[in-house]
Amino acid sequence: MDTNKAQSASAAADGSAAVGGSGSVVSGSAATGGAAVGSSVVGESAVGASAPAGRPPIVGMIGAGQLARMTAGPAAELGIHFRVLAAAEDESAAQVTADVVLGDYRSPEDLAAFAAGCDVVTFDHEHVPRSLIEAMEVSGHAVRPSSRALHYTQDKQAMRERLASLGYRCPRFQAVASLDDVTDFALLTGWPVVLKAVSGGYDGRGVWICGDPEEASVVLGHGLQLLAEEYVAFERELAILVARSPAGQGAAYPVVQTVQRDGICREVLAPAPYLTPAGAAEAQRLGLDIAASLGVTGLLAVELFDTDEGLLVNELAMRPHNSGHWTIEGAVTSQFEQHLRAVLNLPLGSPSLAARCAVMVNVLGGEDPDLRSRLTHVMAADPGVKVHLYGKSVRPGRKIGHVTALGRDLEHTADRARRAATYLAWGTEDTGEH
Ligand SMILES: Nc1ncnc2c1ncn2[C@@H]1O[C@H](COP(=O)(O)OP(=O)(O)O)[C@@H](O)[C@H]1O
Ligand SMILES: [Mg+2]
Repeated sequence: MDTNKAQSASAAADGSAAVGGSGSVVSGSAATGGAAVGSSVVGESAVGASAPAGRPPIVGMIGAGQLARMTAGPAAELGIHFRVLAAAEDESAAQVTADVVLGDYRSPEDLAAFAAGCDVVTFDHEHVPRSLIEAMEVSGHAVRPSSRALHYTQDKQAMRERLASLGYRCPRFQAVASLDDVTDFALLTGWPVVLKAVSGGYDGRGVWICGDPEEASVVLGHGLQLLAEEYVAFERELAILVARSPAGQGAAYPVVQTVQRDGICREVLAPAPYLTPAGAAEAQRLGLDIAASLGVTGLLAVELFDTDEGLLVNELAMRPHNSGHWTIEGAVTSQFEQHLRAVLNLPLGSPSLAARCAVMVNVLGGEDPDLRSRLTHVMAADPGVKVHLYGKSVRPGRKIGHVTALGRDLEHTADRARRAATYLAWGTEDTGEH
């Protein structure tokens, strides 16, 4: 299914596109390149997240995918006791985390038992039912981000309505329940129309670009709650990643360009090329403002469409995000460390670039499951490339890892990262479409 007509990445020719590249940390009202985040606590209590003196704080993450796996390292470095709620012992994060609780994120009992032992609870995905998150809050647990904020990542209609009511620019949208609803909407926007599952979608699953009523009727036949959106012929996709602590401190990473294919993030260029300092500052301010408006604690990623008429908000995530994996090597503070700092109400770290540019390319599974021999080749071919593997079994198209290259020239750095990622996936260095 063609869910995505993402534009190809156009890396800067000279690599000097470091405009807007230094992230900004904003404390109270002292804005440096980003926007101020009020110092008041929004939407939740700041108590309950610090550990009693004499022992490390316990951060519990619900879900044990690659995001939790990549949080385990920074937790160890900061002396934080990291615990994950995993469905199985062989899940990505369960393989590397000392403290694994097996349980079901849809079970009230399992969640209550998990939360009871943690100083703060946070998430590796947005699929925990809202009522169960509220139940943890009612029981007095520090849950970050809160159920109120998370709602806007779990329900795309609620997110669109809330952002529109706050005055943020989004694609035109309409809840639809019938083919008539969709065709009425198309009278306003024209075809194609984008249909989206209101909840439960990710990596393009739950997004359909419908060229005509027939295609729309197939999607309606799935019986899901749907949102119709105008098809945005964007020039490119950008993302802004910010962190916000319960005390109201905020930090904004440099704006990045993301490239999606078939709805899956393929690569991320940091900082986004061809962005003016004013454009970068505007996106950073947008991210910090949305985080404050929605009372987000922890990380917030805002996916953006860059269009002729400016930036439109596509979607929100309140956890470490694929568009921020480059920060492990490419920023002074990785997004995983930043999320831990934010949910523990610790001072935030610098989000500034650690190199002129960074390029992250996802490794999607190919036909051959034997990564190890190809890994040796990649290590030998370019000792500067950093490889991250998620310990997942290889299936065609599945995200199994990523590579990051740092450099001075964006084009050259992207080329190195693409070569490594494609070689790992299928044993050839393909710097074109992948
Ligand atoms: N309204 C739209 N117009 C054009 N492309 C879109 C639109 N909405 C989504 N897309 C494309 O589909 C991708 C996935 O959509 P998104 O809403 O972010 O869903 P997911 O939750 O799967 O990430 C986007 O990154 C973008 O490439
Ligand atoms: Mg998305």
